[in-house]
Amino acid sequence: MNSKEIRKRYLEFFKSKKHVIIPSASLIPKNDPTTLFVGSGMQPLVPYLLGKKHPQGTRLTNSQKSFRTEDIEEVGDNRHTTFFEMLGNWSLGDYFKKEQLSWYFEFLTNELKIDAQRLYVTVFRGNKDIGIDKDKESVEIWKKLFTDAGIEAKDVDFSGKKGMQNGRIFYYDETKNWWSRSGIPQNMPVGEPGGPDSEVFYDLGKNLKRHEKSQWKDLPCHVNCDCGRFVEIGNSVFMEYVKTEKGFEKLKQKNVDFGGGLERTVLAVQGKDNVFETDLFIDVINEIKKLSGGKEYRDNMKSFEIIADHTRGTVFLASEGIMPSNTERGYILRRLIRRAIRFGKLINMPKNFLAPLAKKVIETYKDVYAEVKSEEKNILSIIQDEEEKFEKTLEKAFKETTSEITKRGELTGDMAFNLYESHGMPLEFSEEIAVKEKVKISDTLKIDFKKAAEKHRDISRAGAEKKFGGVGKEAGYEATKLHTATHLLHQALREVLGNHVKQMGSDITHERLRFDFSHSKKLTENEIKEVEDLVNKKIKEDLKVEKKEMNYSDAIESGALAFFKEKYPDKVTVYSITNFSKEICAGPHVKKTSELGSFKIIKEKSIGAGIRRIRAVIE
Ligand code: SER
Repeated sequence: MNSKEIRKRYLEFFKSKKHVIIPSASLIPKNDPTTLFVGSGMQPLVPYLLGKKHPQGTRLTNSQKSFRTEDIEEVGDNRHTTFFEMLGNWSLGDYFKKEQLSWYFEFLTNELKIDAQRLYVTVFRGNKDIGIDKDKESVEIWKKLFTDAGIEAKDVDFSGKKGMQNGRIFYYDETKNWWSRSGIPQNMPVGEPGGPDSEVFYDLGKNLKRHEKSQWKDLPCHVNCDCGRFVEIGNSVFMEYVKTEKGFEKLKQKNVDFGGGLERTVLAVQGKDNVFETDLFIDVINEIKKLSGGKEYRDNMKSFEIIADHTRGTVFLASEGIMPSNTERGYILRRLIRRAIRFGKLINMPKNFLAPLAKKVIETYKDVYAEVKSEEKNILSIIQDEEEKFEKTLEKAFKETTSEITKRGELTGDMAFNLYESHGMPLEFSEEIAVKEKVKISDTLKIDFKKAAEKHRDISRAGAEKKFGGVGKEAGYEATKLHTATHLLHQALREVLGNHVKQMGSDITHERLRFDFSHSKKLTENEIKEVEDLVNKKIKEDLKVEKKEMNYSDAIESGALAFFKEKYPDKVTVYSITNFSKEICAGPHVKKTSELGSFKIIKEKSIGAGIRRIRAVIE
């Protein structure tokens, strides 16, 4: 079954269940400032999920063009792409869990003939803090569906240590099984709809080649573990809540928002182990092979995939009239084109290779999205212009990188990171140049590069780099003290106000800390005093600050707090302050809390719905 057929079957299947097929909306959101691009099928439908009447009724279905900028760096595994199509069906206050889960299961196993043995599902485990229970109803529905298909369906709690536990249905928390445009419940602004969800994963099997190479290979696998063995193919969101000043309330209507990646569904049906080998990409992959003078996809997967993905993304963004620039959407388009060109260099692609690739993409999609064909001339000319402009910049960066590497006579991870920072030179490039120039390459190149990148990220997150760069050791130490004070403050807020408090942002200079967190009410004078007193008490107790390297899943399981907006690597550093605070953090911190002095909150205010900001100093 090819992708056209699969897309059509999905829409026809839901049409047979009385849904109206609606066209894909534009990739550029209308009246929706939450994202730069439409990143899911529900976004254009938000007013209707909130209760407005949709002219086409209460059951809708489509295939929505989507683009997720946050996935740019993820491209190069077996399942992430920037542009993708999301198959969607919606109930606007019409059917709910039973119909949704049963229909989707029927579609996968009957229509697409996917082996149910390969399917695993997840459900929301509930969270008392937000007053929402475990989704037992979905579990019962899934149990029946699997049992009727002759498959035992045990439900188990997710555990990073125990892995699969012979389970079929897994409970996860809100970081995995809750959906809203702004992510987890704690991050949602007032007025935003959301709800628990139930995801379906397709098992590519233990022998998946990339799994063996994966950083996760020695850890027990579980469906959300990121090793690439399990691919999420569909997500049914039970959108029945809205965030209010007082917490979560039921919406006037119970909605279903289902979204499933077309690319991944095609992967499952076509028996491939990654989306780039499906018919949606194969022509472009073959063209890359041809233009590179016969390089093999399997030997150069990352470069092929980045080029293929970014060319497709470029075609779709340019077809909507977006032009390369240095801001917002134009910047994303520029980044796609430039990144594709860089990776093209790695596999010897000739000059101006993007236009012929774009033509292949246009051929693949012209019957489904007419705009790619009608805008063809425009798309190709945008690509050509940008390619020519970038060629010059790139040549200069190559020269400078080569000269730096030969001058130093070696390549280390730190150097490679600096080259990346100053010339945009990806690690693979510096490595390639080092090989060509026959200089020594550090054994720990990749690890050190990653460490340098993490350190950089942490510093810029704390805003420290700009603010005290060059001021010297003293200022650095002051900021370090405030950094430890930030951890104490975070935990003190949780103890005084409740565990709903989560870090939303932080900025540290050598003079003060600034901490943003989720909480919907102004702090009373008493609460402020209680928080200050608790922090000062912990400072006086002279607690030890300890640092430990751990696997991310172990860290979370051991109760370490994480910064929710961040994606973490598999190995993380956890800082604990004796029995009081435990957080994933790259540091640095002081050794003992008595180093801090007296802690004082100087300001507390709202910076948006549900988010407060505190400024504090130590004297
Ligand atoms: N909105 C949900 C998602 O993007 C389901 O459509 O996963």
